[in-house]
Amino acid sequence: MRTTPAPTGLAARAAELSWYHTIDLAPGVTTRGWFDTRGLVPEVPLALDLTGKRCLDVGTWDGFWAFEMERRGAASVTAIDIDDPRGWDWPPNAEFDAAGAARVAFMEGFKSQAAAFGLAKEALDSKVERIDCSVYDLDPEVHGTFDVVFLGALLLHLRDPVRALDRIRRVCGGELVVAESVELISSLLRPRTPTARLEGLEEPWWWQPNVAGLRRMVASAGFELLETTGLFFLPLGAAHPLPPLRSQWRVLGTAAGREKAVARFKGIPHTAVRARPLT
Ligand SMILES: C[S@@+](CC[C@H](N)C(=O)[O-])C[C@H]1O[C@@H](n2cnc3c(N)ncnc32)[C@H](O)[C@@H]1O
Repeated sequence: MRTTPAPTGLAARAAELSWYHTIDLAPGVTTRGWFDTRGLVPEVPLALDLTGKRCLDVGTWDGFWAFEMERRGAASVTAIDIDDPRGWDWPPNAEFDAAGAARVAFMEGFKSQAAAFGLAKEALDSKVERIDCSVYDLDPEVHGTFDVVFLGALLLHLRDPVRALDRIRRVCGGELVVAESVELISSLLRPRTPTARLEGLEEPWWWQPNVAGLRRMVASAGFELLETTGLFFLPLGAAHPLPPLRSQWRVLGTAAGREKAVARFKGIPHTAVRARPLT
């Protein structure tokens, strides 16, 4: 990546945008993300050397994982995401609900994700190609096949996560690496039983699988599991709003409330899977 000097005014331009990821754009310039994904990198079973590989990042937002694959030597990286909010497949009640400042800020962040990706690409002098495409529309006739596909924190937002995985299988000519959020309590209480809690009302997600449930989703979409990890936690980033503690205690009686309390103090529980398509 970058061999020329970083763009002028980079810090000021980065500060004008909303970031999902915490990305080191240049020495002394780091984005204020909603999440600090840097802490997750060592936990995810993505090959350290991707030299010569054709890679795909699904649901890239501002591109953290796409840039990470490029940094590891990928010959090319394609990153897909959706620019039009109507294509997101979020639960209808969550999509345009302005119930809280956090939700509004999150929605604003969505609107600037292509711009944030563009600035990061410029700052990192990257060649990653970002295309406006839903995971449901991945097609080997159009996009070709990829040696490595990365999928992170998207399945929970989709009505039909197994169909999304099925579409990914069709363009996956090598390996799929999935790092998704999972529900903590059902993962601990039911480690061998695949479960997924249906949300779908106020929150912008449909399914909260446990660790076994996430693995089962991948397997049932026609993948052979090559490697699985246990639980690890995605730390919140500098820009993540924290609701007053008092309001969090009040919702501890709900599963979503308990998960949010865990997120506040520990981060978002995740697990990862490395898999290849069944032949
Ligand atoms: C929670 S973010 C995860 C960002 C990143 N993949 C990661 O793991 O850190 C989910 C991303 O998926 C995108 N997205 C939502 N629906 C999508 C769809 N149907 N196809 C592709 N991307 C989608 C969102 O715009 C957002 O950028």
